[in-house]
Amino acid sequence: MSRGPALEVGPPKDDAELKAYGDLLVQSLGFDSKLLEPWLARQERVSFRLARLGGRVAGGLLILRGGQWFGGRSVPFAGIAAVATAPDLRGKGVASRLLRTTLEELRAGKVPLSGLYPSTHVVYRRLGYEVAGVRVTWKLPTSAIDAQETGLALRPFEAKDEEAIRDLYRERASRGAGQLDRTLPHWKRILDPLGVTRYAYVIEREGKAEAYVFFTQEPTRANHYELVVRDMVAATPQAVRRLLAFFAGHRSMADSVSWIGGPGDPFFALLPNPSHRVDQLRHWMLRLVDVPAALEGRGYAPDVSASLALHVRDENFPWNEGKFTLRVEGGRGEVRPGGDGDLKVTVRGLAPLYTGHLTAEELVATGLVSGEGEALAAASRLFRGPAPWMSDAF
Ligand SMILES: CC(C)(COP(=O)(O)OP(=O)(O)OC[C@H]1O[C@@H](n2cnc3c(N)ncnc32)[C@H](O)[C@@H]1OP(=O)(O)O)[C@@H](O)C(=O)NCCC(=O)NCCS
Repeated sequence: MSRGPALEVGPPKDDAELKAYGDLLVQSLGFDSKLLEPWLARQERVSFRLARLGGRVAGGLLILRGGQWFGGRSVPFAGIAAVATAPDLRGKGVASRLLRTTLEELRAGKVPLSGLYPSTHVVYRRLGYEVAGVRVTWKLPTSAIDAQETGLALRPFEAKDEEAIRDLYRERASRGAGQLDRTLPHWKRILDPLGVTRYAYVIEREGKAEAYVFFTQEPTRANHYELVVRDMVAATPQAVRRLLAFFAGHRSMADSVSWIGGPGDPFFALLPNPSHRVDQLRHWMLRLVDVPAALEGRGYAPDVSASLALHVRDENFPWNEGKFTLRVEGGRGEVRPGGDGDLKVTVRGLAPLYTGHLTAEELVATGLVSGEGEALAAASRLFRGPAPWMSDAF
């Protein structure tokens, strides 16, 4: 990790450095060069971290701050996006050292969780990230919808609806696991996406928003298109049916509708036939940057009262190493150093356990977790919850 010449890490010093990083994104990640400038301009400059080697921009990444919901509490979370190393400097530890410095900085800034969508597992696993949740794109032929619901009013979204849709999103996300506690930049991507025409509607009952949908129309065959839902929440069965009826109303030209969800979806309960299928399954990885803070920051099932003695291994960060005891009571967790270390877990193994993506028993087969049956069962009980999924991609 410390191999190679000294790397200097920090936000861009000037426009020229930002431009050099932007060029890297076009070359390395296939960014659309026409959208690069507006994309760079809409990010906060202080959120970029560039890696400099001998004064040259060798790589970079973007930190997207927010929270992640677990057990009804939002834990400070840093999404890591747009990781790239100059092609001629790859394999020299640039990305690893850049990420490591970023993680140290996050811990100092009291951000206990970091997540990303990986293009390779190798680099990120070495730094303690592990696959911990999903993002499923579901696809449904519009011809398969038989919902007729017209009872609720559906109308185009207006700027004045922003607060109401944020509330709807927050209400659902806070009851789930893994969904982001969105900040303004997250919402900007939904409200005002770059390079596409977005359509947006709100469903209301007696003037109160009960659902919303943001979508684009992507060409399929001659003049036909798919409704690609970028963001959607429906809080009641009538709102779900109203949305389905709205999608069906596009069926003369729209062959299908796709939307993002978890492994299960309330929509399925209202479909007459199993015509939906997975269009894309993406996994995200999580890193517990600060184990005690992450364990204390999340919520737990209010009916669970238990203690778990952990022995954590973290090859990268000594502050996570060692024995901790997690005591959970009334939905909150408290961590004390020490204890018997009954559950032996690497920091990577802790990520899917923490989110509820895998149980402790399942993780035994990965070699990332070990312990007696009782410790495994206690860990699974403590972290059980809704299936972790994330709507946002970055
Ligand atoms: C992925 C990427 C950022 C890695 O950057 P890098 O500076 O070469 O990474 P490092 O040198 O720190 O790599 C650390 C280890 O991971 C390995 N590694 C890096 N990329 C890998 C890949 N795509 N597949 C398998 N192993 C990989 C390296 O070989 C190295 O292992 P080693 O120490 O045994 O040699 C770089 O390849 C890149 O810019 N790719 C194109 C864009 C991209 O995929 N970005 C990531 C988006 S999530």
